[in-house]
Amino acid sequence: MSTQAKIEKMLKKSEVILAAGGEKRVAKQHEAGKMTARERIAALLDEGSFVELDRFVKHRCTNFGQEKKELPGEGVTTGYGTIDGRLVYVFAQDFTVEGGSLGEMHAAKIVKVQRLSLKMGAPLVGLNDSGGARIQEAIDALAGYGKIFFENTIASGVVPQISAIMGPSAGGAVYSPALTDFIYMVKNTSKMFITGPAVVKSVTGEDVTQEQLGGAMTHNSTSGVAHFAAENDEDCLQQIRYLLSFLPSNNMECAPIVETGDDPMRIDDSLNTLLPDNSNQAYDMKDVIKSIVDNGEFYESQQYWATNIITCFARMDGQTVGIIANQPKVMAGCLDINASDKSSRFIRFCDAFNIPLLNLVDVPGFLPGCNQEYGGIIRHGAKMLYAYSEATVPKITVVTRKAYGGSYLAMCSQDLGADQVIAWPTAEIAVMGPAGAANIIFKNDPDVKAKTEEYIDNFATPYQAAMRGMVDIVIEPKNTRPTIINALQMLQSKRETRPAKRHGNIPL
Ligand code: HXC
Repeated sequence: MSTQAKIEKMLKKSEVILAAGGEKRVAKQHEAGKMTARERIAALLDEGSFVELDRFVKHRCTNFGQEKKELPGEGVTTGYGTIDGRLVYVFAQDFTVEGGSLGEMHAAKIVKVQRLSLKMGAPLVGLNDSGGARIQEAIDALAGYGKIFFENTIASGVVPQISAIMGPSAGGAVYSPALTDFIYMVKNTSKMFITGPAVVKSVTGEDVTQEQLGGAMTHNSTSGVAHFAAENDEDCLQQIRYLLSFLPSNNMECAPIVETGDDPMRIDDSLNTLLPDNSNQAYDMKDVIKSIVDNGEFYESQQYWATNIITCFARMDGQTVGIIANQPKVMAGCLDINASDKSSRFIRFCDAFNIPLLNLVDVPGFLPGCNQEYGGIIRHGAKMLYAYSEATVPKITVVTRKAYGGSYLAMCSQDLGADQVIAWPTAEIAVMGPAGAANIIFKNDPDVKAKTEEYIDNFATPYQAAMRGMVDIVIEPKNTRPTIINALQMLQSKRETRPAKRHGNIPL
């Protein structure tokens, strides 16, 4: 065969694979409001940067006549490219090829990019759109999932791993995304569940739609499985690019510094009047965040779940920070089981990837009650204590108002390793709220009202803590941004080590 003929043969083989599942199935994919795997990769990566690997990989299954089937690209497109000029590995399951189902060689393609991303210290983005294990491949498909889960775990904390659910993700297929750092779900088209509505009906008798059981908003607002919701495929892929802009490529690097143009010394007078005079009245902690971060811009993870706490990325003087903030507008900012889980995981992500932690505190306590106790608030709340204590990145705590009891500690007090504790004059740092405290210590005193007032004046302040050196600086609220940026600069040379161990045992 001549060289030219060989080239033509290769191009012809490629053409078949590039046509994916064929015109009809591609049209069906578009009708469902979804892009194809290759369209998604093109939208995700910098233009023209994609290099495809393993285009010609083929399955070797002979069960149920599979040997007669052509499955272009094995139902998954894999490779690498760049996002904002930085190397990223990617796989995109192709629903037009046997429902994007995962067989032995489909899995092998994914495992290859997982290993490359780890070796090269570059993030991995997985675009999931699959009917799950390829049933014809039986145990080989299961083994494929096992290998993917293993690689997910090995890479955890080394490179950022991001999953987008852009179609079905059913059965054990949900667990690879669950092992990654962040899950995106596309509204209306994505579904995640370990068993679909039919199995649910037969086992529990519940009638539920796919959307109710595992749609984007179910997992964004009810289960907390997902971190971000997107309006459509394009929005999802742009959001992933945006998230990566805040992150380093691996655990040995720091996040890129971005020139944001916002004055690091900027003060904001409105913060001096943001808090209501009555400390039982709510305000929006997002107003504080907007005021202090560069250009008021922040990207919230899990914005629809456990909204009594806010977790977000932002920049201060161009440097990425991870913010954990109580939200007094929701449940008075109490910590509960979900808030503990949400914040602990976020803290650990930031610590793994050298992202300084900024804690904005206005917390009256852990939420009391049977529901919380029976659900294990002790076990879940302990995660926050553990995650903050374990973290060695710079930790800055700003107490705007309440910081009571165990929740004061759980929001990263100095004793849990905060490198700088800053308080507003409105801070109330004490063992418990004034009413409860006065009722106990002055319960037999006829002058309980006056005594409570006295307690408030003396103890519901930052000064008891400041007198012991547990608060480093008391500032006018308007100076919060320059004070934090100054602390971040001071902390740039922070080095803190922990005893060598196989690994700790976080309460789960
Ligand atoms: C083989 C599959 C498949 C699968 C879909 N297909 N899922 N082939 N194995 N798991 C094929 C279909 O036969 C069809 O082929 C094509 O993909 C498109 O599927 P449709 O059903 O026509 O599409 P749609 O109506 O959109 O429904 C999509 C779906 C449905 C909801 C995902 O296909 C479905 O329920 N699939 C099975 C889901 C499931 O139970 N998976 C769990 C497997 S066990 P043709 O040739 O007609 O185009 C598992 C355990 C893993 O995953 C454990 C790991 C630890």
